[in-house]
Amino acid sequence: MLVDSHCHIDFPDLSENLPQLLDLMHRNDVGCAVCIGVNLEDLPRILALAEAHPKILASVGVHPEATDVREPTVAELVALARHPKVIAIGETGLDYYWHKDAPEWQRERFRTHIRAALESGKPLVIHNREATADTLRLLSEEGAEKVGGILHCFTETWEVAEKALDLGFHISLSGIVTFKNALTVKDVARQVPLDRLLIETDSPYLSPVPYRGKINQPGYVKHVAEEIARLRGISIEELAATTTNNFFRLFPQARTKTSQ
Ligand code: NI
Repeated sequence: MLVDSHCHIDFPDLSENLPQLLDLMHRNDVGCAVCIGVNLEDLPRILALAEAHPKILASVGVHPEATDVREPTVAELVALARHPKVIAIGETGLDYYWHKDAPEWQRERFRTHIRAALESGKPLVIHNREATADTLRLLSEEGAEKVGGILHCFTETWEVAEKALDLGFHISLSGIVTFKNALTVKDVARQVPLDRLLIETDSPYLSPVPYRGKINQPGYVKHVAEEIARLRGISIEELAATTTNNFFRLFPQARTKTSQ
């Protein structure tokens, strides 16, 4: 069984085709997918999906790119995370690609999420784009290693991966690993300790080869798994079993909710 640790199937491109999406998950042995929150305004539709479908789990957070959205408090995130299908806090982190002025509000929002994760005991789902030094610094300053989590859609170097691993975090690789020119990500895929590796689609974005450029979906996480298995010279079965075990170890709540 495979797990898609990060997707956005509440986005219209995917939610409109839910029966086909769930069918492909079934056919590709994807037993579970985490639908990631990016703002509080759209959270109800994610929770509705998770409540309606046993294989769908959820997270609660406000994305670092998001502007013109309601700013969460620690107490609010903690309260929302009590929902039985919410397993993580995020998507949170820093994005200095879309916000090149590296605004203070992003770091404040990130600290709020880390504090909520520590208080609720639910791991973090972290987005980092061109903000590695500050991402690692804030995680460390706030004591995030006590709760841990995922650096999602990891595209940094192995040196950065090592620092995140030292903080107790897991590395999640997306379909980017299947792109021919993604040499840095392929290098990380070869080197991450197998017990700290997760896989994801980040769908509807970043479709893996052979679907590159098309709308991505959780069933395609199989192609991410196949490429990593190939790079490491192990079987797809071993890669699937290990990354799925890692997922349930990091999110014990997910095991009961998806009855695995
Ligand atoms: Ni995302």
